[in-house]
Amino acid sequence: MVLIDSCGRPLLNLRIAITSKCNLQCIYCHKEGEEIGSCSKGTTNEMELYEIIRIAKISVNLGISRIKITGGEPLVRNDVCEIIKEISKIPGIKDLSIATNGVMLKSKAIELKECGLKRVNISLPTLNPHTYNNLTNGKIENVLSGIKSAIAAGLNPVKLNMVVLNNINVIDIPNMIEYARKTGAILQLIELDPINVNKQYYSDYHKFLDDQEDFLKKKAFRIDTRRFMHNRKIYRLQGVTVEVVHPIENSEFCMHCTRLRVTSDGKLKPCLMKNDNTVNIIGSLRNGASDQELKELFLEANQMRVPYNKEKKQ
Ligand code: 5AD
Repeated sequence: MVLIDSCGRPLLNLRIAITSKCNLQCIYCHKEGEEIGSCSKGTTNEMELYEIIRIAKISVNLGISRIKITGGEPLVRNDVCEIIKEISKIPGIKDLSIATNGVMLKSKAIELKECGLKRVNISLPTLNPHTYNNLTNGKIENVLSGIKSAIAAGLNPVKLNMVVLNNINVIDIPNMIEYARKTGAILQLIELDPINVNKQYYSDYHKFLDDQEDFLKKKAFRIDTRRFMHNRKIYRLQGVTVEVVHPIENSEFCMHCTRLRVTSDGKLKPCLMKNDNTVNIIGSLRNGASDQELKELFLEANQMRVPYNKEKKQ
């Protein structure tokens, strides 16, 4: 059984933010679209381990089979391995991954793998140490050794998330493709989303990835479309795979969205771009709601999933 929303889109993926705290400060970060309130400042109303597991179980019961753990930075939570272990044991779960900045992966990759984590997405906007530090306030050595550890631990695939910023890291794309080829990682080129990003920053640095896609089209020996991942294109180049995430003004992207989010403070969030239609599942859970009542909140949130970009503007 799979839930279908009012636009006919199946609900297959859940992204659970387990914290809003982060050990980096990426200028471009959308913070998973969470409202910048008390929780997002990191003073927090985080869900507890058993609450996260209960929500995950309900979701898998409703046909969701792919869960991604996000943040903030999920690895700053001490019980992240416990969370992974419990979710990986839920019957029916097919894919369990983490989105991380990679800084703490060096020490945690093996344990995460042993706990049942399948794969990992690591934010890496550039290979230039100086640009990396400017964008994130972090040291690139940490993430590079995190990537190595993830690959060595057998987390597979390792995907490198590169948010492409006009005049900042566009010139790094060829190096990033080479690095992905060399390490065996998949490169994801991601267009900047406007949510939680300063307006001026967005207009200065957002870049449509059309030129890059043209380049990839020419180089690819095969191009696939991921139907249940926003219809995104996957370019198979000699020795390396590059995916392009192009959400802006792209109705195809939204028409093929199969996701729901859980915010770090326990609300079901139907759309990354909106905060006016969240469903407060944690409130009900803490008030003693039954599984059936929690299921109904999922149905409610699913019905509120509507494509943010409705018309084709290109
Ligand atoms: N636009 C697009 N992608 C973003 N990410 C973070 N902020 C933005 C943004 N403003 C990506 C990062 C991270 C993933 C969870 O989201 O690449 O890896």
